[in-house]
Amino acid sequence: WIDKLEVQPLERAEYIRLLSDYTEEDRLYAQEKARKIGDRYFGKQIFVRGLIEFTSYCKNDCYYCGLRRSNPKAERYRLTEEEILDCCREGYALGFRTFVLQGGEDAYFTRERMVHIIRQIKGAYPDCALTLSIGERCRADYAAFRQAGADRYLLRHETADPAHYRVLHPEPLSLEHRIKCLETLKELGFQTGCGFMVGSPGQTPETLAEDLLFIRRLQPQMVGIGPFIPHGDTPFHNKPQGTLELTLFLLSLIRIQQKQVLLPATTALGTIDPRGRELGILAGANVVMPNLSPVAVRKKYSLYDNKICTGEESAQCRSCLQKRMESIGYTLVTDRGDYPA
Ligand code: SAM
Ligand code: SF4
Ligand code: FES
Repeated sequence: WIDKLEVQPLERAEYIRLLSDYTEEDRLYAQEKARKIGDRYFGKQIFVRGLIEFTSYCKNDCYYCGLRRSNPKAERYRLTEEEILDCCREGYALGFRTFVLQGGEDAYFTRERMVHIIRQIKGAYPDCALTLSIGERCRADYAAFRQAGADRYLLRHETADPAHYRVLHPEPLSLEHRIKCLETLKELGFQTGCGFMVGSPGQTPETLAEDLLFIRRLQPQMVGIGPFIPHGDTPFHNKPQGTLELTLFLLSLIRIQQKQVLLPATTALGTIDPRGRELGILAGANVVMPNLSPVAVRKKYSLYDNKICTGEESAQCRSCLQKRMESIGYTLVTDRGDYPA
């Protein structure tokens, strides 16, 4: 099935069997194949994105996330436009050519405010790509962001199974609306990213099969996956975290299935294992997203417990990651790192 996946989609039942019965040997076989495909398209180059976590306010109540509105212990902050631009200036000097603005769904950042910020960034750094990750908005907002110059949008679908979606999110959030947003983003010409947490409560080989089928259908330019990690102040505080092995296996399957997709080795993967991101690259990932947020706010953007890159020592995530990539024979590049045309 791993060989078959390289040339054609699997049937639903085949995905389910593969995900239920895989052995360590299968995982390593997939990893080998995925790494070869990654190297064929991207060589030993790893794309790097500067992540700016610009607001910790959120109107949603996702059961898994530390920023959910019902968490009174969450520390809320917003960066000013000036602070965001400072992050970009610092990032540009360090060699970043993509900035990712990520945050909770914060009504303060109206269409007008976001458009202003996007214009400022794209005006100051026309050679950089700008990615947004600010959740579900109306079509007119997305269109205005695109018009203002935003290039990419990350919106993980979280799970492609509607019943599982309901386990993870209270109403009024729905899978149907999430998918609608993703389709709109693609239509508007964003390089679009979907994705999901590995090992989220209620996830099964069946729901993962739906995820892989959904990715096949959507044909996104980016896929973000990382392990679910519990946060102590959420309803999922006592749920087990996603495993390293399953995350690595899924990274490999996605690389084999989606060949040229931009696939990050995430901070969450680096949080559950000290070498998680290096192992993610070796399993088929080709992007890393060091934190560019001001160190003073990093601990407040607390999605899950024990998040790395939040202490004083993490001011220079880029050079830290550079060394980590070099330790496995890869190198970070100063490049926008677009999806191949
Ligand atoms: N608010 C936007 C949204 O939800 O799309 C963007 C920010 S949100 C914090 C980014 C991603 O963090 C989510 O898509 C989710 O997959 C991930 N996340 C949230 N809580 C997590 C947890 N406990 N463990 C791992 N990942 C988590
Ligand atoms: Fe808000 Fe995103 Fe966290 Fe959900 S995952 S509570 S939308 S920040
Ligand atoms: Fe952030 Fe190492 S990548 S401290």
